[in-house]
Amino acid sequence: MYSAATGKPHVLIVNASARNEGSVSRELVRELLANLEASRGPLSVTHRDLAKGIDFVSQAWIAANFTDDADRDENQHKELANSDLLVQELMDAQILIVGVPVYNFGIPAALKAWIDMVARARKTFRYTSNGPEGLLTGKKAYLVVASGGVPVDSPVDFATPYLRHALRFIGITDVEVIAAEQINSRGSAAMEAARSQISNLLSSETTPALAAGVS
Ligand SMILES: Cc1cc2nc3c(=O)[nH]c(=O)nc-3n(C[C@H](O)[C@H](O)[C@H](O)COP(=O)(O)O)c2cc1C
Repeated sequence: MYSAATGKPHVLIVNASARNEGSVSRELVRELLANLEASRGPLSVTHRDLAKGIDFVSQAWIAANFTDDADRDENQHKELANSDLLVQELMDAQILIVGVPVYNFGIPAALKAWIDMVARARKTFRYTSNGPEGLLTGKKAYLVVASGGVPVDSPVDFATPYLRHALRFIGITDVEVIAAEQINSRGSAAMEAARSQISNLLSSETTPALAAGVS
């Protein structure tokens, strides 16, 4: 999708680190965006910073979500307003970049809450006779994963495989992982490895929608 307002490819950046200072994932997300702009030209960007807060699923939220849109009362629309906004941000984006610190072998609670807010039946997925079908097709996603000790995609990494699965569930199947892994022991080597992944990815990958200039 191209931003109607700007005509540029649209990127949604979701940052999940609780840190603003010294965050490895935020730094690499910035570098990825700069590299994307350098290789693809100007982009329009929406920032969703989960450290600033996010709604959690509640009894009222579930009841509203399970009520047909046409039957929702005013309170139920209000209950879902934040979730609707987050879904819209995702729908509007052609490229999704997620900054993912590994916390206790999984994703930060705020990022799980974001997944809960954007996994919406009839909006981002639906059930068919063939099983669930993701509705957000045609997007590219980059997961920028930072870990202290856990090797990314190892048996004790429950963050990266989970996110790949959750994104696939809503239709986002083209997912690249950039990993700054085991920073505690590898330090700057982990950062350099992630930077190499960024440059290798952007030089090798073809993004048909971007290349062709179509949404
Ligand atoms: C609450 C918390 C839990 C963490 N749990 C893990 C963990 O289970 N495995 C791991 O490899 N690193 C863990 N770490 C280290 C972070 O993944 C690492 O510091 C990473 O750089 C955090 O991302 P950030 O720099 O973008 O904030 C944890 C850090 C915090 C703050």
